[in-house]
Amino acid sequence: MDNKHVREVDPAVADALAGERDRQEQTLAMIASENHVSEAVMEAQGSVLTNKYAEGYPGARYYAGCEYADEVEELAIERAKELWGAEHVNVQPHSGTQANQAVYYATLDPGDKILSLELSHGGHLSHGHPANFTGQMYEVEQYEVDPETGYIDYEGLRETAEEFEPDIVVSGYSAYPRTVDWEAIQAAADAVDAYHLADIAHITGLVAAGVHPSPVGVADFVTGSTHKTIRAGRGGIVMCDEQFADDVDKAVFPGGQGGPLMHNIAGKAVGFKEALEPEFEDYARRVVDNAEVLAETLRGHGLSLVSGGTDNHLVLADLRDSHPDLPGSDAEDALAAANVVLNGNTVPGETRSPFNPSGIRAGTAGLTTRGFDETAIEEVGDLIYRVVDNVDSDDVIYEVGERVVELCEEHPLYE
Ligand SMILES: Cc1ncc(COP(=O)(O)O)c(C=O)c1O
Repeated sequence: MDNKHVREVDPAVADALAGERDRQEQTLAMIASENHVSEAVMEAQGSVLTNKYAEGYPGARYYAGCEYADEVEELAIERAKELWGAEHVNVQPHSGTQANQAVYYATLDPGDKILSLELSHGGHLSHGHPANFTGQMYEVEQYEVDPETGYIDYEGLRETAEEFEPDIVVSGYSAYPRTVDWEAIQAAADAVDAYHLADIAHITGLVAAGVHPSPVGVADFVTGSTHKTIRAGRGGIVMCDEQFADDVDKAVFPGGQGGPLMHNIAGKAVGFKEALEPEFEDYARRVVDNAEVLAETLRGHGLSLVSGGTDNHLVLADLRDSHPDLPGSDAEDALAAANVVLNGNTVPGETRSPFNPSGIRAGTAGLTTRGFDETAIEEVGDLIYRVVDNVDSDDVIYEVGERVVELCEEHPLYE
C-alpha cells in the first residue's frame, strides 16, 4: 500500500491516496454503509484483472482469453451460493443500485408499479425515489414505519399493497435498525400476485453469518452490496431461484451493463472466502453486540433512538427531542471535526429536509473490523454524545478529536 508506482507517475493522486489512508487510520468510520476490507481484498481489486474484458458469463464469453476471469467469477459465485444459500447468483452488478436495476429490468415494464419504503423512513433512492430512474420509469407507492414504534408497519404495507396492486414489493433498507420480517412482506406480495425484491445491501454480512434472518428462499429476488457488512470487493450481487436465473443474467448483461469489473469480482471472491471462515460469524455477532452497546450508551445520555434501539449494525438517533435546534447535518460536521465520521440522516416524520435532516445514523461494522470491543464502543458513544451536546465548543471538539486519535492508534487498521 505504499503506492510507489502511482507516486512516480502522479504525485497528486499519490498524495490524495496517502491522505485518505491516514484519514481512515485516524478517524472512526461510522457511516453505516462503510467497512474496511482486508489487504487481500484490496490487492485483488487492484490486480491485472482490471485489464480484462469478459462480456458474458463463465464458459460463454464474447472474448478470448477469459480462462482466469472464468475461474475467478466461478469462485465468487460458488462462495456466494455457500454464504447465502441461493440457487442462482450473479456477481457482476457494478453496485447495489445496479443489482436492483437488473431485477426491475428483469421483472417490470416501464409504467409498472413499485411499492417500497419511504426514503425518510429508511428506504433507498433506488427503490423508487423521484430523483432516481426508478421514480421516473415506474409508478411508485410507499409504505412507512409505524410512527409510534419506528418498526415497519406490516399491516399498513399489506393494506397499501391491496389498494395499489404493485407489480413488485421492495424490502430491505438503508436506515432501518430492526430485524425485517421477510415472510410478512412475502405474504403481502403474494396476496396481490407481486414479486418481492429483498435488498439486503446493508446487512449482507449479518445475513451470511446468520445473525439476521435470511430472505433467500423467501423473497423472489435478493440483492445486495458486497462491500458493506460482508466486507468483500466493491459492487453488487443478485440472488434468485433457478427459474429467474436467465432473466436476471440477461438483465445484468447485456440489459444494464457491459463488461464486468473482473478485478472487483476478484475482490468479491476473496472477501467471500474470508466470510466463509468461522471467525466471520463471530465478527458479525460482535458488530450487532457493539451496535446494541452504542444504542444503550446514546439512550443513556438521553438521545431518542428511532425504534428505541437496534437489532443490527446501525443506530438512528432522532435529535429533535433532546436537541431541537440541532440539525443532524450540524452534528455530522461537529463530529467530523472531532474525527468521528458518520452522517446526518432523515428520520421518520422528518420535519426538516434531506440536506438538513433531524437525525444522525451510526454503524459499527467498521469499528468492529478494527477490533473495537464493547468497552471501547461505550466510550465512543460517550464521545459522540459529548460532541452532540457541545457542537459549538471548540475545546470539546478538540479534546474528543484527540481521544479519538488515541483510540484509533490503539486499534490500527493496516500494517
Ligand atoms: C438498501 C440499499 N440498497 C442499495 C444501496 C446502493 O448500493 P450501492 O451504493 O452499492 O449502489 C444502498 C446503499 O447504501 C442501500 O442502503
